Order: sequence, then structure tokens, then C-alpha cells
Amino acid sequence: MDIRINFSGRSIRYTEEEIAVVVEAMRNADPLTQGKHRQAFESAFAAYQGVPQGSCFTTMNGCAALEMSAQLCRFKEGDEVVMPSHTFTASCYPYVKKGARPVWADIDPATRVVTADTVAKVLSPRTRAVVVVHLYGFAADMPAIAELCRKRGILCIEDAAQAIGAELQGVKAGAFGDMGIFSFHSHKNLTTLGEGGMLYVKDPAMAAIVPALRHNGHCPYPFVQEEYWKPAMGNVDMPMLGDDMLQPNNYCLGEVECALGAKLLERIDRINDEKRRRALAFIDALSDMPELEFHREPTTRHNYHLLAARMTTGPAMRDRFMKFMAEEKGIKCVVQYIPLDRYDYYRRLGFGEAQCPAADAFFDAMVSFPFQHWLSDEDFEYMLAATREGIERCRRG
Ligand SMILES: Cc1ncc(COP(=O)(O)O)c(C=O)c1O
Repeated sequence: MDIRINFSGRSIRYTEEEIAVVVEAMRNADPLTQGKHRQAFESAFAAYQGVPQGSCFTTMNGCAALEMSAQLCRFKEGDEVVMPSHTFTASCYPYVKKGARPVWADIDPATRVVTADTVAKVLSPRTRAVVVVHLYGFAADMPAIAELCRKRGILCIEDAAQAIGAELQGVKAGAFGDMGIFSFHSHKNLTTLGEGGMLYVKDPAMAAIVPALRHNGHCPYPFVQEEYWKPAMGNVDMPMLGDDMLQPNNYCLGEVECALGAKLLERIDRINDEKRRRALAFIDALSDMPELEFHREPTTRHNYHLLAARMTTGPAMRDRFMKFMAEEKGIKCVVQYIPLDRYDYYRRLGFGEAQCPAADAFFDAMVSFPFQHWLSDEDFEYMLAATREGIERCRRG
């Protein structure tokens, strides 16, 4: 297969200014982790999100942020966590590792994310937390979902791994819930050299634990050290949260990545706007082809991290279309996010039961187009023309 347009593993190209920031941190940062660049990134991120200073914590990736959010939930035996079945596996397994039982909520077929209704349907007296995933970069209806959780005394966590910059009613995705997580993985609209993440924690008492939770339980002694090296250079402990003592991790992000992250925040809105403009152009240019059903959202509620469609004529035509695109046009579309209840891993754990017909139907006929930010205009036009040709060809059978 001769590929002209790959589904690239890399979302963005860096500017010379961004590269210079990395080089400067490589040369001069001391230490290379846990220093001024981390502080600057966390501070700039909190400002970008419109949340209080001291509530955002860099992590080595989104998964580490999810795992710490799961620790902060302090699950007891039998506790359930509600989340969409249609998501990336890392939205879920950190909660399984920390003792929760996932219960699958269905998606709204129009937006591909959960709603207050689909969540409400699967809540039970055992529900401890709800994880809302802003999949593809679209912010779910957080005002309604957060209100539902608040009324029921349930923790609300936003997996905004794909949704940096998406906003609803002037509030950023990831800033509505009790906690929010972000990913700066290679695929994401903002990537800190391939890995990186952020954890937002709303409750100041919980947030106060995160530095020790993230970094080996390191903390100051509760007394003034007469000689700074005694009894040791620093203390190790873990604060109590309720009756529980959480176990520490080392989930820090390095200084070079933090320096780059802070710099990229200056450009993220532009990147998102450019992706949205392109997505809308693609969707509108195909509006006479009802076989491909896109999610058209012209506002900043969608950052179009990904460009996904459903083949309304079903999985067989989807497969023919993908084959045509790959083999005749050299364009590698992909199929994403098999509902988690259908994975062997989750089935073997006993989590294979789900009532999520919309998630199943969407996944079975979905197609995700290559949509890296750096796609050239020429390749973008080529992909559009190839898509039209592919649909026409598939119509003929
Ligand atoms: C929806 C979602 N959740 C969680 C993650 C995990 O993030 P990371 O790869 O940074 O660990 C990702 C991305 O990789 C994701 O797309």
C-alpha cells in the first residue's frame, strides 16, 4: 500500500520560536524536572482554563492524571464509575486499577458523547464517580451532567484529553467537574514532545495532596529544620484524606516539556480555530453526500482534534470506502474507539455487559479521516476529492 496521506502519529509541527524555547530549557534548566518551567506551565494553564492558581498539576501523561484522579476518588469495594463505552481505554483502566467497577453509559448518536440522560439511566446507589469524555474534541453538556452529579453527591471527572480549548457557555472543557484531565500526547492538538498531561482538582483540600501524590510523597517536615540536612534532606509522608492514606507515585513531567507546553498555550486557540475551519470546509463540501454523517459544530465547543464520520449506509460500505481510500488513493483512514465492553481485557474482568446501542452502531460504521494540523492544503484538497470519488464509487457497488 503506497500511502500519500497517513493517519499521522504527530499532530503538529513546531515553530522556530517553540524549538528555541526547548533548546533554551535543554541548555539551562536546573533542575531538569520540578523547576520554574513546571510552575510557569501550571500557572499559565490555570489562567487559560479560568480556574484558580494552584489547582492544575502537570503529569507525565494523561493516563497518570487519570490514575491520580482515581486515587482521589477513594473507591470502596463495590463502588461503580459511570463512563462511556465509546472511548479510549485509558479513560477507564486507571479506575479499574484503583478498585472501581465501570458501568457503561451510551452516547448521543449526534454528538458521540454522553449526555445527562444517558448517564442518569445507569446511575445506581453504588455510583461513586462519573467520567465524562469529551471525545473527538467536543465538549459534552457539562452544565447538565455536573448538576446531575452534584444533586446525587457523585464526583464528576472530565476526561478532556482530546478537548483542550473546547468551551461551552464561556467555560473551558475540563473546568466544570470536580476534576479534569488533559493529555499532551503526540496525537493531541497541543503536544509536549509526545508525552505529557495535566490534572485539575477543584477542591483545595484534595488539590493540596497532589504534589506529594505525584512525587514520591515528598513533603516538608512539620517543623523547622535547624540544619537543613537533618533528619534528612526532606520528609516523605502522605497526608490523610478522610480515613484513607493514598499511596504515592512518580508521575512528574520534565522541565523541557513544561517550557514547551507553556509556549504552546499561546498558539493553541489558533491551532484549534484552523482545525475547526478545515473540518467545517470538509463537512460542508460533502453535504450533498448523505452517506457520510459528520458532527457539524461551528462554535468553539468543538476543537476538531479528530474528524470522524458515520457511514449511514452501514459497515459494508464503510469497509469498501476505506479500502478505496487506502488502496486507490493512498489515504489511510482509521476506525477508532471500539466500545470498551467489547475488548477481551474488559470482558475477562467481568465488564462485558453494556446497553449502549448508539455507541455500537456508531463504532461499527465509523471512519476517521487523517486530520493532523500540518496537512498541506494540497493534500487536504486531494483527500476531499478522493472522498467524493470514493462515495460515488461505493454507490455503484
Ligand atoms: C480520551 C482519552 N483519554 C485518555 C488518554 C490518555 O492520555 P495519554 O496518552 O496522555 O496517557 C487519551 C489519549 O491518549 C485519550 O484520547
